[in-house]
Amino acid sequence: MTDLVSVSVEVNGRLREVTVAPHHTLLDALRDDLGLTGTKECCLVGECGACTVLIGGRSVDSCLMLAAEADGLAITTVEGLATGARLDPLQQAFLDTGAAQCGFCIPGQLVSARALLAETPRPTREQVEEGLAGNLCRCAGYEQIIEAVLRAADPATDGSPAGAPARPSGEPHPFDVANVPDAGLAPQ
Ligand code: FES
Ligand code: FES
Repeated sequence: MTDLVSVSVEVNGRLREVTVAPHHTLLDALRDDLGLTGTKECCLVGECGACTVLIGGRSVDSCLMLAAEADGLAITTVEGLATGARLDPLQQAFLDTGAAQCGFCIPGQLVSARALLAETPRPTREQVEEGLAGNLCRCAGYEQIIEAVLRAADPATDGSPAGAPARPSGEPHPFDVANVPDAGLAPQ
């Protein structure tokens, strides 16, 4: 029988302990052990970006990293982008531009876009294309996704709905994730 490994990780600001098989990936641990199924499982070979998470502010394919290698690290998944009921401006911009079609690639796109904006707060279109080059969208919704990232990076919009004035700083967005019918259930 394979010896199991204890792993301590900080996930979305919360210390979590998991016991995993040595060959289990970080993606396995997030989805199967911690129930954070916003991070998607797809190609498993680092090609599609569906499994992207943030580690130390950088985007990482969690399917390519062993869970044991994450011991002691701080990880942000798509579930950690919103602040309480307040959506990340990127999430709001993706909603406003209709960037999600089937939605499967969107968690990875959001996380990669968050890493891009952390490093390049006002990216050009070319920089957005390059920053999201590792995230494939089978629905080919690239135009809306790029538009959303540029919109979230634009201080004039602040991720507000199209045509609406930017929100005063500190004012919560009226959209409350707690009111989403399935908010209490783990997304699939
Ligand atoms: S599932 Fe990890 S890159 Fe595709
Ligand atoms: S929205 Fe369907 S794969 Fe991107």
